[in-house]
Amino acid sequence: MGRKFSIIGAGNLGTRLIHALLNCPASSGGSSSGGGRYELKHLYKKSKFGYYTASVVDDIELLVREADIIFICTQESKIREAAEEAAASSNPAGKIFFHTSNCLTSDQLLSLKLKGAYTASFSPLQTFTGVGPGEDMELNPFNGIYFLAEGDKEALQAAREIAGDLGAAVLIVDKDKKIDYHIAAVCASNFLIAVLKLAERQLHKAGEPTPGIEIMFPLIRQTLENVASRGVAESLTGPFKRKEMAIIDKHLGRLEGDEAVLYKALTEFLGKD
Ligand SMILES: NC(=O)c1ccc[n+]([C@@H]2O[C@H](COP(=O)([O-])OP(=O)(O)OC[C@H]3O[C@@H](n4cnc5c(N)ncnc54)[C@H](OP(=O)(O)O)[C@@H]3O)[C@@H](O)[C@H]2O)c1
Repeated sequence: MGRKFSIIGAGNLGTRLIHALLNCPASSGGSSSGGGRYELKHLYKKSKFGYYTASVVDDIELLVREADIIFICTQESKIREAAEEAAASSNPAGKIFFHTSNCLTSDQLLSLKLKGAYTASFSPLQTFTGVGPGEDMELNPFNGIYFLAEGDKEALQAAREIAGDLGAAVLIVDKDKKIDYHIAAVCASNFLIAVLKLAERQLHKAGEPTPGIEIMFPLIRQTLENVASRGVAESLTGPFKRKEMAIIDKHLGRLEGDEAVLYKALTEFLGKD
């Protein structure tokens, strides 16, 4: 028999998680099938992208009762409320509950823990965008990534097994330090987008012909490869590295407002240990 799982919050991440678990060797989908490594039981109330709609139910008691593992993949602001609803309407004792927020801790699931559930935060260090109509869903976007996890030991053991099945690794983190990992993830992903937005604006300012950001892709890729092989500190090149401050002043002379402020702050940050 496969591990029976249910999802509360089948959005960007929840949908991809279902797909990846069902694609683990010998898994099976749908609430009536069995015999695979993972068996999808139910989704709660909705499926944001219309996948697995046959498994959508309005009955949270049924969703919990029929699953061994319940993933709460709602937005951060709705995790506690979803956990409280499940705790109030079902018997979660002995079940494993995860939420997938990189920011929040297992404390969000306290209402379930108090009723005997094993709880943990189990969140992927990866970014997942929507699955549009006709867009291919990658079989397993979790392969090779890290999950952060903290919580009850029974839930952490299940987290290790699930991550292993997905080809991912688990980093067990201190609950009080989890926010620091999240800041690092925001810097590595969201702020990278902010910096690329600045680059894109400069390309537009350069006028005709206006190339797209893709002309920077080889530069971006090589920078990341350098970071992978040499580390962050040893990968810097450019005017700041060469101490060509006249060039930096010239750049600042061409920038205005927020763009100048950001350029200056980032340049000064490069000089910090
Ligand atoms: N996306 C990523 O790259 C990523 C990466 C790492 C971790 N995470 C974490 O994963 C979680 C989900 O992120 P996401 O990007 O997948 O969000 P999302 O696309 O907005 O999906 C969340 C889904 O949950 C539904 N929902 C909310 N409350 C519900 C409830 N009580 N019952 C049933 N469904 C409910 C939402 O419906 P409504 O829109 O109608 O509210 C929405 O469809 C977040 O905690 C996030 O921090 C996301």
